[in-house]
Amino acid sequence: MPAGPGNQGGPGGPNGRRPEPGLRDPNWAGENFVRIVDVVKKFDETVAVKGVNLSVKKGELFALLGSSGCGKSTLLRMLAGLESVTSGQIVIDGEDLASMPPYRRPVNMMFQSYALFPHMTVESNVAFGLKQEGVRGAELKERVHTTLDLVQMAKYAQRKPHQLSGGQQQRVALARSLVKRPKLLLLDEPMSALDKQIRQRTQIELVNILDKVGVTCMMVTHDQEEAMTMAGRIAVMSEGEIVQIGTPHEVYEYPNSRFTAEFIGSTNLFDGIVVEDEPDHVFVETTELPSRLYVNHGITGPLGMPVTISVRPERIALTRKPPPDGSYNWGRGTVANIAYMGGYTLYHVKLDSGKVVVANLSSIALGQIDSPTWDDEVFVRWTASAGVVLTA
Ligand SMILES: Nc1ncnc2c1ncn2[C@@H]1O[C@H](COP(=O)(O)OP(=O)(O)OP(=O)(O)O)[C@@H](O)[C@H]1O
Ligand SMILES: [Mg+2]
Repeated sequence: MPAGPGNQGGPGGPNGRRPEPGLRDPNWAGENFVRIVDVVKKFDETVAVKGVNLSVKKGELFALLGSSGCGKSTLLRMLAGLESVTSGQIVIDGEDLASMPPYRRPVNMMFQSYALFPHMTVESNVAFGLKQEGVRGAELKERVHTTLDLVQMAKYAQRKPHQLSGGQQQRVALARSLVKRPKLLLLDEPMSALDKQIRQRTQIELVNILDKVGVTCMMVTHDQEEAMTMAGRIAVMSEGEIVQIGTPHEVYEYPNSRFTAEFIGSTNLFDGIVVEDEPDHVFVETTELPSRLYVNHGITGPLGMPVTISVRPERIALTRKPPPDGSYNWGRGTVANIAYMGGYTLYHVKLDSGKVVVANLSSIALGQIDSPTWDDEVFVRWTASAGVVLTA
């Protein structure tokens, strides 16, 4: 069934503009510069995007993060107008995307592979889109060179793409997108062609350039470190749905689900049931530890509810001595594996229950407990503020 673009039966009709709730309020308009409302995308039987709602602020760098096939590129392609929307609405700066003809869409997309024209110089690659829009002469030259300066590629203007490094090609592709001064810049896996070292440097460069231009940007990545380094806010996506939206700090420290906790960084998960729930603390009974779990925040849910407690490896301390009688949040085990990572060391401790707990220890912390080795008996412990209770 061919899917028509635009909202389905909204007040403005299939292709009409739904009145924006607060367009006259500059604050509201800035917070909702891009609005994605109940957007669904079906490819025959496959539902690639299942009713996504989110807003991107003006000037923000927003990342869509999720594993392969979860629908990130599809959502981005709908924003670019390259893919029709099965149902729902996309509004950019107060204008419904569906009612804009393609040449008027204020959006530019940089693709997973940059697709520079191999036979053209850097300068011609950047000028190409502007020329198509009829920009000529001094204005053309001025805009191309200002943009090449911005990405620090002016001195390579006469080179061809094959004479450039991967990172340099990436900056030319960015210049080609920025030179058209889009209201919304879309980046699909912008670092995928770069190796790890140059990737990290380029991430910071790219953020600095985007800050300078002040363009609103939505990027797609499956690399959580990249999203955390670059984005102001992250939407975590799974199977066509948004699972959580927040700053890098929020999604890491306060994951709202098992999925986010495991997807963003690594974590230790303990399954149990709630046996005491007060506004300022929760006790959870688990078969995985000799003690109860104690978390210093309350939850909403009945006693006896199954929950999962997430404790990040860097929140876990290792000791040689058992904790005092009556302590919570501890376990006893033996060192099953040690992974030296340079700046830190990962200890895998196999508890008496069979559960393996991973602790991330600095060399200072290790010095204090005389660096345990394989098969040593150790205790793992954490504080009441280290755990996050997950109910989904
Ligand atoms: N043109 C198409 N026809 C049919 N199915 C498609 C089409 N494009 C995408 N899909 C399906 O939609 C789902 C989402 O694809 P999408 O490309 O959005 O994933 P992604 O999150 O970008 O993944 P990756 O990280 O691998 O790029 C996948 O199951 C994919 O097979
Ligand atoms: Mg993709």
